[in-house]
Amino acid sequence: MSQLPAFEHIPVLKDEVLQYLTFAEDHPVRLIDGTVGGGGHSAALLEKYPKLELLGIDRDDMALNAAGKRLAFAGSRVRLVRGCYADLAAIAVENGWDQVDGILLDIGVSSPQLDLPERGFSWRNDAVLDMRMDRRSELTAGRWLNRTGEAEMARVFREYGEIRRAGALAKKAVEMRENKPFAMTSDLVALSDAVLGRAKPGHLPHPTLVFQAVRIAVNDELRQLESGLKSALRMLVPGGRVAVISFHSLEDRIVKNFFRKESTACICPPGLPVCCCGHEAVLQTVTRHAVTAKEAEIAANSRCACARLRVAEKL
Ligand SMILES: C[S@@+](CC[C@H](N)C(=O)[O-])C[C@H]1O[C@@H](n2cnc3c(N)ncnc32)[C@H](O)[C@@H]1O
Repeated sequence: MSQLPAFEHIPVLKDEVLQYLTFAEDHPVRLIDGTVGGGGHSAALLEKYPKLELLGIDRDDMALNAAGKRLAFAGSRVRLVRGCYADLAAIAVENGWDQVDGILLDIGVSSPQLDLPERGFSWRNDAVLDMRMDRRSELTAGRWLNRTGEAEMARVFREYGEIRRAGALAKKAVEMRENKPFAMTSDLVALSDAVLGRAKPGHLPHPTLVFQAVRIAVNDELRQLESGLKSALRMLVPGGRVAVISFHSLEDRIVKNFFRKESTACICPPGLPVCCCGHEAVLQTVTRHAVTAKEAEIAANSRCACARLRVAEKL
C-alpha cells in the first residue's frame, strides 16, 4: 500500500484565534472548523477546552486523513466530514447539530497542497495541472484552461490574479491551446512568461498570480466564501463567534463587507428620509480592523505575511 506523504502545515495566527474564540471552560460547547486542514487550530482549541466538541470539515481527503491522526487524542469529541464549508449548516444538521458556539474558517490552500508537486498548485515544479482541493471534482486546472472562454479567462486573471495584462494573457491562452492543450504546470508557466515576462525585483513572480487566479476559479473559492458566511450566520447561537482567516485581498473584502452589512441595522441607499429595507443587525464585529501576524510569526512562517483575521459575534 502506498504511504501518504507527511502533512505539515503550521496553523497561522493560532494565538489570535485562541484569543478571539473563547468559551467557558466548564460548559459543553460546539465548534465547526470549516477548513480543518491538518487540524492545527482545532487541536489547540480542543486542548484548551476539555468540553469542546468539534465538527471538522474539509474538501481534501489528504487533509482529513492528517486531521484524523492529529485530533485522535480528543476521541469522540471530534467528527470529521469531507465536504465544503459553504454547506456547513447542512453538514451540521446531518450530524445532529442545530446550533454552534463558534465557527472557524481558515480559507485558501494549505502548505502541503502547495508543496506536493502532484497536486499541481505550484508553478515551481512541473506536474499535471490539477489544483483541485477535492480530487473527486471533475474540473481540473487543465480542463478549466482548455474549456473556458477568452472573456471569462480574462475576468479571472484580472479579478482573482489582479493581473493588468489579463486580456492579453487570455488571448494568448486561447492561441496556445489551439496548438497544444494545457496539460502540465510548465504549460501555464510558459503562458505567463510569454505574456508577462519576469516580475520586477521585490514583486511576486508573475506565475504566482496566474496560478492563484486559476486555483480560485477551479475551486470556486469566492462563492464558497460568500455561501459559507451566510451558512455560519444561520448556525451560530447568540453570543457565538465566527472567525475567518483569509490570504487574498478579495476574500478579506468579502468578509469585511459581510460583517459590515450584517452588523448594520439599515442598508437603504443614503439620503432616503425613512428606512425601507427592513434590514436588521444580526452581528457585531469584534475585530475593528483585520488582525495580522506579528513579525516573529512572519519570520518563522513567511506564508502568514498576508493572513488577515476578522471576527464577528452573533447578536
Ligand atoms: C489553510 S488550510 C487550513 C489549515 C488548518 N486551519 C490547520 O490548522 O491545519 C485550508 C484548508 O481548507 C480547505 N478548504 C479550502 N476551501 C474549502 C472549502 N470550500 N470547503 C472545505 N474545505 C476547504 C483546504 O483543503 C485546506 O485543507
